[in-house]
Amino acid sequence: MNLEQYLASRRELVDKALDDMLPGEDNEPAILHKAMRYSIFAGGKRIRPALAMASAEAVGGKPAEILPLAVALECIHTYSLVHDDLPAMDNDDLRRGKPTAHKVFGEAVAILAGDALLTFGLGVLSLPNVARMYRLDRLVPVIHELSVAAGSTRLIAGQVMDIVFEGKEVTPEIVGSIMANKTGALIRASLVCGAMLAGGDSEEVGILGRFGELLGTVFQIRDDLLDIEGDPAKLGKAVGKDNTRGKATFARVVGTEKTIEMMQTLTTSALETIEPLGKRVEPLIAVGKYIGIRTS
Ligand code: IPE
Ligand code: IPE
Ligand code: MG
Ligand code: MG
Ligand code: MG
Repeated sequence: MNLEQYLASRRELVDKALDDMLPGEDNEPAILHKAMRYSIFAGGKRIRPALAMASAEAVGGKPAEILPLAVALECIHTYSLVHDDLPAMDNDDLRRGKPTAHKVFGEAVAILAGDALLTFGLGVLSLPNVARMYRLDRLVPVIHELSVAAGSTRLIAGQVMDIVFEGKEVTPEIVGSIMANKTGALIRASLVCGAMLAGGDSEEVGILGRFGELLGTVFQIRDDLLDIEGDPAKLGKAVGKDNTRGKATFARVVGTEKTIEMMQTLTTSALETIEPLGKRVEPLIAVGKYIGIRTS
């Protein structure tokens, strides 16, 4: 399969759904809705939606049927980026190839646009015209998974630890836990929720969840490596910032070479995890292999 084409076709579906579902720019307060749309449509690979759709396919579902989940995931992810870039956090000026939200709209509106993206993302699946597309015994657990993944024990926990451990001595265990939480949780939720909403059984959902947990750490390791050796033009964000800020990364604790080895081992384990699911996982395998070698 041609991965580039596959991801581009998924991105097109997701972007159309985002455009259809997000409040229009002239909805009051216009400045807020403009800022939300600015960050969503600045760019982005739409990897979490693509993983959710591939996971739905892996259990026999149709990708287009879980588009509201794709919208939820991308809104929650984009909120996390808007807040991650704030001066009080990573203080970044460039995101998705464009000036960060707070550079364009000011800090107050950027914070509020992040809040609004998170709230919208968590609420979108329970909109009456969306909710009636799904069985409630699938929908409620999906909304629960999303809320937990985005919440104070996972994504936000990871972000807090990322900040608390800046410039501090860290162990590989601490780095692993930061990654699993700040990035792994939402990636795991993408796979779990995609499969759940498409009617996967508990065994399938369990397998895809373990795959997601491993792949989430691979995703953040690759992000950290790209901060060292990546091309800012391709990444659409600055590089070298983790070192300057003393971020807790594996590269800092065990060195770049060992980090690459770990990433490869994790990728192999992740791919082995989904073998029992058979032939329908072909897209997931392709995306899984790409995560650790991506250049953007
Ligand atoms: C960047 O995520 C932040 C991390 C969790 C490492 P992505 O690399 O998925 O960013 P976009 O969505 O493509 O901009
Ligand atoms: C971001 O990690 C993780 C979340 C936003 C949850 P990073 O801080 O490494 O992401 P980039 O490098 O700014 O995209
Ligand atoms: Mg950060
Ligand atoms: Mg950052
Ligand atoms: Mg980074």
